[in-house]
Amino acid sequence: MAAPAAPESLSVDRHGAVAVVTFRRPDQLNAISTPMMAEITEAFLDLGRDPEVNVIVLTGEGRGFMAGADIKEYAGQADSAFDDFQTRGRAMYAAIEDNPKPVIAAVNGYALGGGFEMVLCCDIVIASSKAKMGLPEVKLGLVPGGGGTQRGVAKLGANRAAYLLLTGAMLPAATFVDYGLVAEVTEPDDLMPRALALAGELATASPDAIRELKTLVHFATRNELPAGLDREGEAVRSLFRTDFAKARVREFAEKSAAREREKRG
Ligand code: COA
Repeated sequence: MAAPAAPESLSVDRHGAVAVVTFRRPDQLNAISTPMMAEITEAFLDLGRDPEVNVIVLTGEGRGFMAGADIKEYAGQADSAFDDFQTRGRAMYAAIEDNPKPVIAAVNGYALGGGFEMVLCCDIVIASSKAKMGLPEVKLGLVPGGGGTQRGVAKLGANRAAYLLLTGAMLPAATFVDYGLVAEVTEPDDLMPRALALAGELATASPDAIRELKTLVHFATRNELPAGLDREGEAVRSLFRTDFAKARVREFAEKSAAREREKRG
């Protein structure tokens, strides 16, 4: 059987246990075409299954992180092809949001429409001071189709989401720090070093704890509080039984006992 063709619209680079996915359609601000969507979905499903990858960083080449769906492709689509594009989009966003590995968005430039919806699927978001984000679908007479209204409300709050959705405004990264979506804004040249440092930190933490934490955060957004507290209780009990936690807890107690002995001379 022939080896699968290498993706054309993105690259996947390894830095130890960290995988960096970079969108590479810079002349189109990484607007998402049908083939690109298939490549992104496949890349995330593969990385989710790869035992050597603990953390994924997502970024874009050039001025765009991703400027949304390819509007020029939309222009030539029959209604049924448009519907199919939306269905495939839902699977792509799920492959990112429900990936068993944490995904860090390193937003380098424009993240608009479907690109912003992708940011909403990531676990941690950092952004360059040059990044601009928004949901401009209203300007095309559309609404977002990749979760922008639903994840937007869940992650930003109803009024902030309504402002973005109804005006189609493109806002700077700093505003999304105020909105609680972006954890840090960096100088453009510092974005990838910072993303890799953060990813490296997560990659050396207990993989069991990281997996549980991602699951628990999603659980909280999708379920009632009592069910979430039950789920969290199960997770902490199970993690307490792992070698990683046993060793870290013991190490802490031993260091404290050593300091106490030193104090007593
Ligand atoms: N779909 C298809 N092509 C896109 C695109 C999109 N969503 N966004 C940008 N591009 C293409 C442009 O057509 C242009 O390519 P061309 O020179 O072959 O025509 C290239 O990317 C550069 O974009 P350009 O518009 O020239 O850059 P700019 O700096 O003047 O403006 C934006 C940047 C992001 C403000 C503008 O491109 C824009 O509004 N894009 C659409 C964003 C959008 O509505 N997204 C939601 C889609 S549902």
